Amino acid sequence: MPRITIADASAHAGETVSIAGWLYNLRKSGKIVFPLLRDGTGLMQCVAVKSALPEPVFEEIKNLTQESSLILTGKVRAEARAPGGFELEVEGVEVLQRVPESDPYPITPKDHGTEFLADRRHLWLRSQRQHAIIRVRHEVIKAVRDYFDSHGFTLVDTPIFTPAACEGTTTLFEVNYFEDEKAYLTQSGQLYNEANAMAFGKVYCFGPTFRAEKSKTRRHLTEFWMVEPEMAFADLEEVQRVAEEMLIFVVGRVLGNKREELKTLERDVTKLEAVQPPFPRLSYDEAVKILQQNGSDIQWGSDFGGTDETILTKQFERPIMVDRFPTAIKAFYMAPDPERPEVALGVDVLAPEGYGEIIGGGQRIHDHALLMQRIADHQLPPEAFDWYSDLRKFGSVPHGGFGMGIERCVAWICGLEHIRETIAFPRMLYRLRP
Ligand code: 4AD
Ligand code: MG
Repeated sequence: MPRITIADASAHAGETVSIAGWLYNLRKSGKIVFPLLRDGTGLMQCVAVKSALPEPVFEEIKNLTQESSLILTGKVRAEARAPGGFELEVEGVEVLQRVPESDPYPITPKDHGTEFLADRRHLWLRSQRQHAIIRVRHEVIKAVRDYFDSHGFTLVDTPIFTPAACEGTTTLFEVNYFEDEKAYLTQSGQLYNEANAMAFGKVYCFGPTFRAEKSKTRRHLTEFWMVEPEMAFADLEEVQRVAEEMLIFVVGRVLGNKREELKTLERDVTKLEAVQPPFPRLSYDEAVKILQQNGSDIQWGSDFGGTDETILTKQFERPIMVDRFPTAIKAFYMAPDPERPEVALGVDVLAPEGYGEIIGGGQRIHDHALLMQRIADHQLPPEAFDWYSDLRKFGSVPHGGFGMGIERCVAWICGLEHIRETIAFPRMLYRLRP
């Protein structure tokens, strides 16, 4: 008898099959019970009829408890009213582990608080909503990779243990690296990406990154996944073009392949369908004016706060690209605008509906003397950047790239209130467990 998955049930209508999974729910109505089985690929309504089954089999099914693991056998039948359009007429059951009544599955269909669920994240992942989010995440990651793989980029992964800061010294996680050396968990693969771009032209890295950010917001994780393309001979304009094209590709893929999941999440897909080129481009100067007109007390020179990003992105229905931030508030490697050195050739892409920054990037300094000056201005140890400054000595070229936080992107696409649901096991200021 073939073992099938629920997702494949339609190809087996009329056949007797077995399906291995977990009991999601059990509805009883007299002499019929309806186990709802989940197997990771979907949900399948099953029907066990008392008169059609040996007494002990029926009793075993009737007394099943939530999340017990089991293998059901039976005939697949088309049933328009069942989720997925098919149901299983049960002929037999093998229970692998029955969850005892004395210690029942803690997550029931009633409403639980988020902290309660977060403490049980290892189990919470089994619920429909979490399932949908993680599947959208998978699609986003696959789309991102497909985009770069099909546009001439080589994947070159960058290290996680690093000897120095990339994005500022205040958010570094320090680890002991054997006897007397300190290492830091990477904040971004960018610096190594720049070396890789000088070797391969167009590259990307994609991995976990770490920020010891003491901010308890709905947008911050201490461990998150970032995809970072880097391109030799690219200016700010080219960086913006690639960021826009990639985002449109990613959103299109999710709309094309993950409709069911978006439905489960009750996502208003018209908001995603509106994500079309061109994305509005505005300067930091213009953004500050818009913010001031809309009640923010931001002054030229300071970075946007979370509320500023929310206010700004609520004005547009597409992602927006804000460029030329004050050089003083940006990382040491950002190229100053030659015509206006007080602003940098950097860009942030802010997602609509109040989501805010999902991409940060821009053009890098490629002049050796200027780079060394910036390293000194930022009080960074020059010896840690020896190899990095070499890139400006041996065939330096204008170059640039960006980083997109996968979780921020998924939170926006799924329409989530908080970033914590976009990763299986979130790491935040006050959460390291489970
Ligand atoms: O703007 P950031 O700090 O830029 C960089 O790290 C550059 N080195 C990237 C590059 O040019 N190669 O971070 C990039 C993106 C942000 O736009 C955001 O999506 C995400 O990374 N990000 C975070 N996501 C979740 N939690 C945090 N604490 C994040 N910090 C940044
Ligand atoms: Mg940023």
